[in-house]
Amino acid sequence: MTAATFVLDPLLPPADADAVVDIVEQFPGYGLYAVEKSASAFAADVPQRIDAVMNHVRSGRRAGRAESPDLLVARTNYLRETFAYGDDVRAPGIERLWHHEGLAEAARELFGRPVVEPAIVYANILLPGQELAVHTDVPEFRGANRKVTPQWLIVVMHQSGLFEPWRMPIATAVTYFGRDGAGRPDGGALAYWPDGPDGAVHRLATGHNTGILLDTDTVYHGVERLGPPDAVPPTLRAANVLEHDGAAWQLRPERGSSETLATWGWDEIRVSLSWKAYCFADEAERTAWRTNADDLTVDVILDRLRADLGERGVGPVDDLADAELARLLIDTYQRYPEPVA
Ligand SMILES: [Fe+2]
Repeated sequence: MTAATFVLDPLLPPADADAVVDIVEQFPGYGLYAVEKSASAFAADVPQRIDAVMNHVRSGRRAGRAESPDLLVARTNYLRETFAYGDDVRAPGIERLWHHEGLAEAARELFGRPVVEPAIVYANILLPGQELAVHTDVPEFRGANRKVTPQWLIVVMHQSGLFEPWRMPIATAVTYFGRDGAGRPDGGALAYWPDGPDGAVHRLATGHNTGILLDTDTVYHGVERLGPPDAVPPTLRAANVLEHDGAAWQLRPERGSSETLATWGWDEIRVSLSWKAYCFADEAERTAWRTNADDLTVDVILDRLRADLGERGVGPVDDLADAELARLLIDTYQRYPEPVA
């Protein structure tokens, strides 16, 4: 079955789109995206998105792009800052995107669920030579979210189909902004698989004031390499920060520094704003989610998955170390698209 996707072009009225570009420039610096850890003791040493990392390395090898682990890390070491989250608006003026009716309407249609509650807007910035590995986003279930449950496990839960009554469908819009007239960067298209991992890849090129809304928790997607094919990604350190100084994007060693490590124009970097909204069937469902009635726990989730592995003839699983069980679950339920050249 083909997943629904909504391309919004143009996304906002032109003046609002220009205002968003100003907001992006005026935001006080973009740091590296640091993946948060969950509070669960289960498989605490397993990286949060081990599923996507394993696939990235494996598919790179299959496509004949064997790159060193350091280079792979540099390619996906992008920048992220949150603009709005719940009641916390950190980028004043972003409400024009946060509460944009066109996004809410597409979200209602995506799942046929009328109660849409925007949850977050964040900016992702990719630099030349960077890319995003193919993945699905981390979904959310009542009682299982990235604060308390390992991210790869939440992804496996969705792929297994065993927990759908607890799932909170999330609509995601990936929106793109660039300085009008500055030109757009080479590469950096969104690659996505609306017909599933065996279907054809679709591509959406970056274009100022455009966006696409879809279920990124289900539809595999990634971002193709930005810049010319031979672009080498910068080596970034944890304290580095990217700022716009009114003329160009400057990479600084740390916040407060005026030293420049590298400079890019709008035509070289990729700025996307991701918008995510919970989509509830009705107020009763929203209340169950808010009050944590009917929540899953990690123990219940693992018991159900172990039982399903048994039914599939995979196992025995009772004596496996956490990391081995993690790998078995990922290998059993996750199936990525084949790499595209
Ligand atoms: Fe994603």
